Amino acid sequence: MLILKKKTAKIIADLIAGNFPGCTLTEDEVFGMLEYPPDAKMGDLALPCFRLSKTLHRSPMDIAKILADGIRIDEFSSVDVAGGYLNFRIDGTAFAHRVVGDVLEKGDKYGSPMNGEGKTVVLDYSSPNVAKPFHIGHLGTTVIGHSLKLLHEFAGYKCVGINYLGDWGTQFGKLIVAYKLWGDKEKVEKGGVDELVALYVRINNEIKAEEDASVAGLPEEEKAHNKKSALGDAARAEFAKLEHNDPENIELWKWFVSVSLEEYQKTYKLLGISFDSYKGESFYTDKMPAQVQKLRDMGILEIDDGASIVNLDKYNMPVCLILKRDGTTLYPTRDIAAAVYRQQTYKFDKAIYVTSAAQSLHFAQWFKVVELMGYDWFDKLVHVPYGTVSINGAKLATRTGNVILLKDLFAEAISRVYDITKEKHPDPAECQSIAEKVGVGAIIFYYLSNNRMRDINFMMEDALSFDGNTGPYAQYTYARTCSVLEKAGASYEMTDAPLAQPEFELAKVLSRFPERIEDAIEQYEPSLVTRYILDLCAAYNGFYHDCKILTCEDEKLKSSRIALTAATSRVLKTALTLICMQTPEKI
Ligand code: ARG
Repeated sequence: MLILKKKTAKIIADLIAGNFPGCTLTEDEVFGMLEYPPDAKMGDLALPCFRLSKTLHRSPMDIAKILADGIRIDEFSSVDVAGGYLNFRIDGTAFAHRVVGDVLEKGDKYGSPMNGEGKTVVLDYSSPNVAKPFHIGHLGTTVIGHSLKLLHEFAGYKCVGINYLGDWGTQFGKLIVAYKLWGDKEKVEKGGVDELVALYVRINNEIKAEEDASVAGLPEEEKAHNKKSALGDAARAEFAKLEHNDPENIELWKWFVSVSLEEYQKTYKLLGISFDSYKGESFYTDKMPAQVQKLRDMGILEIDDGASIVNLDKYNMPVCLILKRDGTTLYPTRDIAAAVYRQQTYKFDKAIYVTSAAQSLHFAQWFKVVELMGYDWFDKLVHVPYGTVSINGAKLATRTGNVILLKDLFAEAISRVYDITKEKHPDPAECQSIAEKVGVGAIIFYYLSNNRMRDINFMMEDALSFDGNTGPYAQYTYARTCSVLEKAGASYEMTDAPLAQPEFELAKVLSRFPERIEDAIEQYEPSLVTRYILDLCAAYNGFYHDCKILTCEDEKLKSSRIALTAATSRVLKTALTLICMQTPEKI
């Protein structure tokens, strides 16, 4: 469709230049005006002439008539004027022939905009905080981030996926104290990150209890400033020791990080995700001072109540904190140092950061600081935010331990799918493998069917349903195409057998894939791919119900229909893979 749309836009732009002296519209402008009519009865492509009316000083109806007279494109069977619209009808058979041929020829490259060659994109995503739970709030960064990586790779970019582990910070002081007091080596070895989180939760609760007790008798307004906790002090002391390379603490820290990473890997494996770099926050410890010094030398750093800050008043943002009063660095400090390192190391053309929208201000602030520092690549930094997630209405609270872990969410989905499919697949290993692909896929698909900024309330029942617009339904449709192709066996091709509406509808959806991919990359919006998959499934299933494929008596028509199935199968596989979904051939 893209090709035809572009061709149409060019011809219309030329017609405007020829028929309306003094008025020019670029091909791109016309392209932007072309629409797909919501109802196929009206046509396959339309140009509303209302907006043109202002520029061209004629009525929409007149404009439509003048343009209609001038247009000659073979693939259109008719060009009509209706109201202020110019409606184009496509010759379905010729169109399907071209589109399916294109899909089958390009194979797994079909749909790629191929505009990333020679360019590098660095993507910072997932990035959980060690010793804190890897919870459903991380689902967004993990799957949006990975899907964006796959989309960019598909477009030909060289991609570097970075897991910027939260492996540094005061939480390690707390964890060290907790471990020294209550920890048990064997328990941590066995329980992994859960055991670390339990220790972390316990010390947070006890610190809070000590603080509350320390201000028990005081009036409300005095409480905040007078809180004291011996455990809290101990945690700060242990972190300071860690920062000064105390061997025992360094040893413990390394162990905590590796135990956590091992656990995260299990979730990544289920999702089919791997990273090119795990350089976390700790890696930048020795890279911050140079950036702080640069800020100081440039006179950008101000001292405010003992802390070092960058004032961003002029840009309508609160100050960006660079150093605390005690001279320790902060989250923005590390991000600035990391960006500089990544630019030097990868010479990126784009650096994408995927985090919850709660961090939008943080990114806007330090992006601005990078600009003020004179780094000319500041405009290559992109923050991709997303909304909140809750499950069946349950809220998230990181410090109290009342959270839904990502691995538990997946385990639940997998076990439910296992129960549904075990009758059909008596071999437990096979059933488990399908349950993993379908269960995990269901969650990804459900999550990625929403615009990323939307707040989502996750409903497990809905996600796992085989009838709705779900992952299982999409995977099932893909498996259906595989089964048709397996039975068809012999070779097939598009023939000149005349095609009817369901086949044409399917070809139209197939033809839109490249546009959707371009949009998804441009808007950093994997949900456009998810919704495309649903359109394609609906078109294929409509075709499947209305048209005989394997039992079709006309051999030429049968061949075309198998070719349409093959093209659908190809595009579905590409599209599902781009949103981190597996594509089992049998369910
Ligand atoms: N570890 C952080 C968190 O879980 C996310 C890190 C995002 N990336 C970054 N470069 N700041 O909130």
